[in-house]
Amino acid sequence: MAERLQKVIAEAGIASRRKAEKMIVAGRVKVDGHVITKLGTKVETFSNITVDDEPIERESLHTYLFYKPRGVVSTVEDDRGRKTVVDYFEDIPYRLYPVGRLDYDTSGLLLMTNDGKLANLLMHPRNEVAKVYVAKIKGVLTSDEIKTLTQGVKLERFKAAPAKVKVLKTDHKKNTQIVQITIHEGHYHQVKRMFKAVGHLVDKLAREKYAFLTLDSLTSGQYRELSKHEVDKLMQMD
Ligand code: URA
Repeated sequence: MAERLQKVIAEAGIASRRKAEKMIVAGRVKVDGHVITKLGTKVETFSNITVDDEPIERESLHTYLFYKPRGVVSTVEDDRGRKTVVDYFEDIPYRLYPVGRLDYDTSGLLLMTNDGKLANLLMHPRNEVAKVYVAKIKGVLTSDEIKTLTQGVKLERFKAAPAKVKVLKTDHKKNTQIVQITIHEGHYHQVKRMFKAVGHLVDKLAREKYAFLTLDSLTSGQYRELSKHEVDKLMQMD
């Protein structure tokens, strides 16, 4: 992801953003060997940056697969003081942020990264990857309702793309059902809205799979770093 030069210098711990701006204007900063004095110049992750001819250290790129618990917000900060996904990464020295969102009351697989290029790529509507959710819903889906979901249910402002639906368990006594649903989009509350559109409330929601990634042996609140091979594979989904 291209970032503003003064931000990159500040994040490398060289100077505050204000001081970094002064350094740029004073002609002390080079990008790939060229003096840059224009503020706001965008630089790439791979650009070579020097200050007074000393290379700056860029933050290395890391991506983690996180098992988000229920009752946690998928933001870096919360103005209501609730626990955030970033709170689970206190021991990790990188500025991680979530790739997309899971609702406060949704659990499951969430990628956390400081790699802007990867995050942008994965969240771009053109590349929306397959996401598998398991929902506990109120009531029991009829075959017509399943057909509507698999053909693309109409929501308020748009029509959801066709979903894959698999009923995992039906409890006729309690009048509930466990349903696996696979979608490629990532609109706000999308799965809940899709079920609501066919007349069912979602009681519990979990994301079990994201592209080829699963939660494997992680338990709620745990994470593991993705391997280079996994990151490369995600990058190639472009
Ligand atoms: N769909 C939802 O409704 N909620 C989520 O957290 C994710 C997808």
